[in-house]
Amino acid sequence: MKVSQAELVISAVSPKQYPQDALPEVALAGRSNVGKSSFINKMIGRKGLARTSSQPGKTQTLNFYDINQTFRFVDVPGYGYARVSKTARAEWGKMIEHYLLNRDNVRVLFLLMDFRHEPTELDKAMKDFADEAQIPYAIILTKVDKIKKSQWNKHLSMYKKALDLPTVDALFPFSAETGYGAQDIWDVIEAQIED
Ligand code: GTP
Ligand code: MG
Repeated sequence: MKVSQAELVISAVSPKQYPQDALPEVALAGRSNVGKSSFINKMIGRKGLARTSSQPGKTQTLNFYDINQTFRFVDVPGYGYARVSKTARAEWGKMIEHYLLNRDNVRVLFLLMDFRHEPTELDKAMKDFADEAQIPYAIILTKVDKIKKSQWNKHLSMYKKALDLPTVDALFPFSAETGYGAQDIWDVIEAQIED
């Protein structure tokens, strides 16, 4: 897909503010700092549209980005940010869960995880949640530019095993620095937002 139009339509703090239409949505979840905002910016070719930060926990609202009036990326708040209160973390969790379980627009969930490290307990919990809720998902492995190509197979096997996946087909290596993997991910988006 060639992106000719991308716009932040709303940063929502409550479901009342979610756009009231049937545009298909691609939801992005992942722990703080994993690269969700960078992913959106790279995919749409706009450096500053989604705000990125080296300071985790920056994105604390559900951000809806309309793309070509065809579909939406929804940047979900980072989970597992240790420096916020337990109550705040529980609120985030509820907001994510409520959105994913009740929003008919959601066609696919992208679970972003850091290619460099083992998935965290929260990463595994999100994957189990998607399995149980029967939400179609793909696992986007971010920051692959930081790992030597000779090490990739080792990291892919680590993810396959840790997430208990039958094959590596659900794993999509991606780099917001180089754009590696973007085309394969566009193929997934196009397949999921059809009809
Ligand atoms: P929250 O909004 O806090 O949940 O974080 P986020 O998931 O949106 O992460 P963000 O996109 O802000 O990126 C966090 C940091 O990681 C930034 O310093 C990015 O530049 C860096 N980063 C993100 N993706 C990549 C990548 O593919 N490669 C490299 N080398 N750095 C990346
Ligand atoms: Mg962000």
